[in-house]
Amino acid sequence: ESAKLTLDPAFEVGPVERRLFGSFVEHMGRCVYTGVFEPGHPTADDDGLRRDVIELTREMGVTAVRYPGGNFVSNYEWEDGVGPAADRPTRLDLAWRQIETNAFGLGEFMAWLREVRAEPVMAVNLGTRGVGEARDLLEYANYPGGTRWSDLRIKHGVRDPYGIKVWCLGNEMDGPWQIGGKTAAEYGRLAFETAKAMRRVDPSIELVACGSSNMRIPTFGSWEATVLEHCYDQVDYISAHSYYDAVAGDRAGYLASAVEMERQIEGVIATADHVAAKLGSRKRLKVSFDEWNVWSQSLFGGESGLDWAHAPRIIEEEYDVAGAAVVGSLLITLLNHADRVGIACQAQLANVIAPIRTEPGGPAWRQTIFHPFALTAAHARGRVLRVQATAPTMPTERYGEVPALVAAATLEDDRLSVFAVNRGDQPLPLEIDLRGLPRATAISHVTVAEDDTAARNTERDPRRVEPRVLDGAVIDGGQLKAVLPPVSFNLVQGK
Ligand code: AHR
Repeated sequence: ESAKLTLDPAFEVGPVERRLFGSFVEHMGRCVYTGVFEPGHPTADDDGLRRDVIELTREMGVTAVRYPGGNFVSNYEWEDGVGPAADRPTRLDLAWRQIETNAFGLGEFMAWLREVRAEPVMAVNLGTRGVGEARDLLEYANYPGGTRWSDLRIKHGVRDPYGIKVWCLGNEMDGPWQIGGKTAAEYGRLAFETAKAMRRVDPSIELVACGSSNMRIPTFGSWEATVLEHCYDQVDYISAHSYYDAVAGDRAGYLASAVEMERQIEGVIATADHVAAKLGSRKRLKVSFDEWNVWSQSLFGGESGLDWAHAPRIIEEEYDVAGAAVVGSLLITLLNHADRVGIACQAQLANVIAPIRTEPGGPAWRQTIFHPFALTAAHARGRVLRVQATAPTMPTERYGEVPALVAAATLEDDRLSVFAVNRGDQPLPLEIDLRGLPRATAISHVTVAEDDTAARNTERDPRRVEPRVLDGAVIDGGQLKAVLPPVSFNLVQGK
């Protein structure tokens, strides 16, 4: 049985939002230290930034990077990470029970971002800190000069303001694990007051309120409603986070993880719009899905047993081909909601549940999940078309029967790009009715697929899994036809 979809340029979701291809650098494990930053590494520049990781991040097409956490931010004092390196204090990071040297801070991050050519998504500490420190950090970062904090930035050698646009008002403040966690009402008030002060410093900023830290937490939905009743008018985004787990015994459910992401996006939007209706507001918030990825917590364990090490090896998950298909399906889901999801950050960038792996003093390489991200970031351009698909279904424990196909399409000028995941175990013939689209003559099909869906990239075999060109896709009488390999991510393009 084939999967079929109809594409018509008259029906679109909206423009491709470039901020959907965001990533996340947290002071956690080896994401910063020996990940993006390693003075003395053979590829390190004068600032200690690993050029090999910069090159891979560019190749991945990362457009925005959230920083410095994550749970880390809720106990972080940003002043510790600016100014002369020799004067910076070593502190206890309570989130991950790590030793934080503060050798890397805001200045190093912004220097790194400049090299990567991406925009910052900066989080403030609303766990152990509050309105005053958020105001000070924004003044340090964005105010031109002549005041205490802006002059300190200049003294630190940065004359021009950073002009950071997007700011997260804390992180996962609903989580019982969060240092300085809050009730929804406490956080809603704090978010309102912090936003008010920050907007006085710089009215041009965009603000993200914390939504729930996942969909399974009992307060999902009611948290967003209460928080937004307090701060709706002050914020532009409400965040969503989710990690998808390869739970043993339900492989089909794991491959169908995008079902859950879609439900979460729809639930958060419905809740935000409900608050808008109650407030009589015509303003519409967007979702910032600023932590998402495959993280097999059930297989690899959580954060227990951490004991005051600097840059420990934690949750360095190795991804296989199935993981790449899941990541591809999550990217497709984000694209299909580009009208209401304005920011998305894959968590994290290097080593910690990450598309890029490194060894201290050694190489950096691309995990399998690097490839669907890089292909989508490079080719999702122009407008997202509405995808009307029918497909054979497959049974899952978690979600019942789900379609084997997940697909999104973008159109820029006459270049059509179809992103498609076959999450089933059989080859899936795909037929696309190109109604109303400019006649495509050339066609290409690239896939991330292997006979062994457990194949991975490792330090010894870093190119085991790479995108491959497939022959056989055709255009025939206004129909585009291709066969999607079992458990695969695909990019089919016509021009
Ligand atoms: O990305 C790892 C952690 O997951 C983040 O610090 C936290 O926000 C989330 O729970």
